[in-house]
Amino acid sequence: MAVENRTPVTVIGLGLMGQALAGAFLKAGHPTTVWNRSAEKAADLVSEGAVLAPSAEDAVKASGLVVLCVTDYDVVHTVLDPLSGELSGKTLVNLTSGHSEGARETAEWAAKLGAAYLDGAIMAIPPVIGTEHAVLLYAGSKEVYDANESALQAVAPAGTTHLGEDHGLASLYDVALLGIMWGVLNSFLHGAALLGAANVKASTFAPFANNWIGAVTNFVTAYAGQIDEGDFTAHDATIDTHLATMIHLIHESEATGISPELPEFVKALTDRAVAAGQNGLSYAAMIDQFRKPSK
Ligand SMILES: NC(=O)c1ccc[n+]([C@@H]2O[C@H](COP(=O)([O-])OP(=O)(O)OC[C@H]3O[C@@H](n4cnc5c(N)ncnc54)[C@H](OP(=O)(O)O)[C@@H]3O)[C@@H](O)[C@H]2O)c1
Repeated sequence: MAVENRTPVTVIGLGLMGQALAGAFLKAGHPTTVWNRSAEKAADLVSEGAVLAPSAEDAVKASGLVVLCVTDYDVVHTVLDPLSGELSGKTLVNLTSGHSEGARETAEWAAKLGAAYLDGAIMAIPPVIGTEHAVLLYAGSKEVYDANESALQAVAPAGTTHLGEDHGLASLYDVALLGIMWGVLNSFLHGAALLGAANVKASTFAPFANNWIGAVTNFVTAYAGQIDEGDFTAHDATIDTHLATMIHLIHESEATGISPELPEFVKALTDRAVAAGQNGLSYAAMIDQFRKPSK
């Protein structure tokens, strides 16, 4: 139910994520207008109080704040380019996943049309949108962010953050964080395969994995300080010590008949650091292998 003085919001794109976003705005009391190419996806939202606009143009006209969540940036332009005459004075918040270059280009395009633009990244899945577990990252003008922060908190009440004025930052954080997710998940899957070969269930291994992932967060904090200061003194273990243990992991993988590809890749990076004379340094010095890739 709409609450007096809540900012009217339009949500364009009612896929799995767009429906969750619109639902969160509605629940927080924002008058919410929605539009989707396939109108039937608005049915539940309409029954909860959303207004289904008959066209994307009507949807844009309905609110000063227009949230976009479609497949990709090409779709954003497919929907909005024909409405370029309607966008002056609007605030566009693009929560569509993309890359930093696309975000910066879209910000320039919006500015030429007289629209304010925030680019956003959703670090959450639809069921947690609107809860304290949702994390949404925004990039663009701080002034525009501040003016809309209160409304945007409807979708992430405890996790709404402005990263900076560079519109590309949300996409960069997004892919960097997803990279961490895949790194952790692939390592877990490799470990679960290794222990599975010894008849240990993945669910038995999982609490040990989670506890260790928690410990690794302390390494991240310490190594971030070393990277920023450029001081790679080994306070915990040297790269040599890490390398010796990696060789054990490759050996165990080969001995149990599971794929050694992941630890072999990690070892290849570490071998390069050793070849560069970094063997006595902190593991944080491995940042050079990412800053100066061999290929
Ligand atoms: N789902 C997640 O967990 C999650 C998490 C973080 C970020 N995201 C990002 O959120 C965005 C949407 O994801 P989603 O899960 O909602 O995807 P989805 O369920 O596949 O929805 C895609 C949306 O884009 C619309 N669309 C596609 N092509 C179109 C076109 N040519 N013209 C007009 N509309 C078009 C679809 O309309 P129709 O309904 O008519 O097909 C639908 O509203 C993506 O960029 C995704 O990466 C999603």
